[in-house]
Amino acid sequence: MPSAYIKTYGCQMNERDSEAVAAQLVAKGYDLAQSEHQADVILLNTCSVRDQAEQKAFGKMVNLAKETKRSRPHTVLGFMGCMAQSRGQSLIDKLPDVDLVLGTQKFHRAGDYLDQILTGERRKICDIEAEQGSESTIRDHLSIGKDTNGSISAYVSIMQGCNQHCTFCIVPFTRGHERSRPIEEIVAECRELVAAGAKEIVLLGQIVTSYGKREISTQNGKSAFVQLLEAVHEIDGLERIRFTSPHPKGYGDDLIEAYGCLPKLCASAHIPVQSGSDRVLKLMHRGYTRERFLEIIGKLRKVNPNIGITTDIIVAFPGETDADFQKTLSLVEEVQFDNAFVFKYSPRQDTPAAAMANQIPTEVNEQRHAHLLNKVSEIGSNRYQRYLDQTVRILVEGPSRRNPNRLQGRTTCNKIVVFEGHDRHVGQLLDLKIYRAGLFTLYGDPAILNLD
Ligand code: 5AD
Repeated sequence: MPSAYIKTYGCQMNERDSEAVAAQLVAKGYDLAQSEHQADVILLNTCSVRDQAEQKAFGKMVNLAKETKRSRPHTVLGFMGCMAQSRGQSLIDKLPDVDLVLGTQKFHRAGDYLDQILTGERRKICDIEAEQGSESTIRDHLSIGKDTNGSISAYVSIMQGCNQHCTFCIVPFTRGHERSRPIEEIVAECRELVAAGAKEIVLLGQIVTSYGKREISTQNGKSAFVQLLEAVHEIDGLERIRFTSPHPKGYGDDLIEAYGCLPKLCASAHIPVQSGSDRVLKLMHRGYTRERFLEIIGKLRKVNPNIGITTDIIVAFPGETDADFQKTLSLVEEVQFDNAFVFKYSPRQDTPAAAMANQIPTEVNEQRHAHLLNKVSEIGSNRYQRYLDQTVRILVEGPSRRNPNRLQGRTTCNKIVVFEGHDRHVGQLLDLKIYRAGLFTLYGDPAILNLD
């Protein structure tokens, strides 16, 4: 049977999509190749959110085409995901060695299309059509039924698409309008994952707080999303629930209260603020003000003063003045985020912001990016230092990313903790005493060793 290799760019949703395609191919009898150099099929699952991400995947494909043409001319090359969706046939026109372009609503067709290409029935396939019900087609999980520890933390896709239309964002074009899966279907998938060993479920969607808005009515003041959290919370054996990405406008009192009522809901919130200036927030079409954002943070910290709060920020949005940028800096200072992802504004095809006057020069964009990144690191580093000598409980996930001889896990506040452990710790909730705080990583020893 042929072997396949999938390289993933971008967000957790993309990782989940890649996992589902891999599971689909394995079910058809494919082997998963250890590297691109041995595979008969190489798929790049792409990201379009910034130009850099697209350039990376495109450059990678140019190199793959060169390499495989020389040594393995029958290798099948494909783009899938967001860039496939937004660029379609033009990818094959530009790179004639590409055989498959698979859009974001067509992941479930990957296996059939590859069969057709491998048997020579069709030479090139580009399918980026919309498909009704596609939000429910991503169900396969690689590790289910297998005797592995690979899925201590498992991703579950709950909805697809986004209707918010932030003026900078390409996602509505690549992922389409919002479609949600039914609560029962999601719960059934979570149950299967827990039965197969998962301890943590991460609910995924482009705007999870808008989950079920049209399909499921509010009950006792609880939005569809909070009803879903409650339903997943019922699952025996499940220890932790996380979700990403939310929108600030979804942080109603029902969701804030959920942090107090649902012990399995992790004490962390990644809430993208994007800017600290009301003028820029309006131009971005974000639908909230700085004051409202601060109010949400205040309410969350009232429910749990230790809640981990992280965010995304874009610098140099068109028309952003020095005064606007100062407001972002002061917001970051005021909130004291545990961490923030800072992005240089990148104009995206067909988005309103790309056509706005006053695009900011690259040097200014870079300066603001560096300045804000410094501020974020300074604050983050102080916040991490506070954990020194504290005992924290982590869910052990597996080998540390940087040093595979060590293990890593996360606190409920989403802080990564690295420690010397044993395979048998994987999947356990373990108390560690922190002896070192690096930049956005903590280091600990099993707390029992530290008893004074
Ligand atoms: N330019 C820069 N950053 C962007 N993001 C989304 N679109 C753009 C863009 N055009 C950032 C936002 C979002 C994160 C996933 O990517 O901060 O929250």
